[in-house]
Amino acid sequence: MTMSFAQLRAVYDRAPSAFDATGPQAARLATLGWTMIAIATVVFLVVMALLLVPVWRRRNAPRVDGPAEPVSERAWILYGGTAIPALILAGVFIVTLGAYDSAAPRPNGPPVTIEVIGHQWWWEVRYPGQHVLTANEIHLPVGRPVKVLLRSEDVIHSFWVPNLAGKTDAIPGVTNVAWLEADRPGVWRGTCAEYCGMQHAHMALSVVAQDDAAFARWTDSERAVSAPPADSGTLEGEQAFLQAQCVYCHTVRGTLAQGTVGPDLTHLASRLTLASGTLANNRGNLMGWIVNPDRLKPGTKMPAVPLSGPQLVAIVNYLESLK
Ligand code: CUA
Repeated sequence: MTMSFAQLRAVYDRAPSAFDATGPQAARLATLGWTMIAIATVVFLVVMALLLVPVWRRRNAPRVDGPAEPVSERAWILYGGTAIPALILAGVFIVTLGAYDSAAPRPNGPPVTIEVIGHQWWWEVRYPGQHVLTANEIHLPVGRPVKVLLRSEDVIHSFWVPNLAGKTDAIPGVTNVAWLEADRPGVWRGTCAEYCGMQHAHMALSVVAQDDAAFARWTDSERAVSAPPADSGTLEGEQAFLQAQCVYCHTVRGTLAQGTVGPDLTHLASRLTLASGTLANNRGNLMGWIVNPDRLKPGTKMPAVPLSGPQLVAIVNYLESLK
């Protein structure tokens, strides 16, 4: 079983990059980044030039023995070592504060508000006004600021969608606010940006920016409870799922599965990835994940459930019907 990196990569429109800004906040941060790089480059070049001056001078000066002339060393320390760096750093500080200040937009109407809760190692996503509950995937309407209320269920995580906004920590017992806004439709990869344990690197999420109509269709479909099985194969799969240990941790709204330890699976089949951005969501990956989660994501809280071949196939048939 391979990780199918190409499949996973194809899920996203662009590689995650803070310099490939697709939202107003990311654009301001990218400008800030380039400004700092420009300032640092100038400082570096000036310092290197100053280093070369005495080398060049010494080469061309007539050889004199004895101590060197104490040229205005104090002036160098005072201006070059203290005053000028202090001025540059103060300037950078002010520019940074300006970027921070513009990080929180002031939307005209009521913003779309979502709750994102960090877990080891996945993201719970709720749309409180819309009764939507999902995982590892955020949908948002293009061109509208989305307010993200960030919490954590266990340790400190950090929520970062580089193409759309800066990072914000998710801290247990605290609710932090982040803002997301996308200029155009697309799918971007977000990630956890604070080391949070063994699978920190496999704690990603997808952000899908859609036009208003597509966003409304998505929330309508996510709000619905799962449809009753449409055929005997799916019914058999539902029964196998409900009899397995899956139900202790997972919820499928509309059934008896009401576990809250792991992600809500009511619309699992419509998500882009599995295991928090670790695998593209397809039949082969889903089977591999259920058979041996720890092999793909060592340390994951999802246990391997002993299933016969037919049980596994039935359960995967059922999960694939959860659109
Ligand atoms: Cu969560 Cu790193």
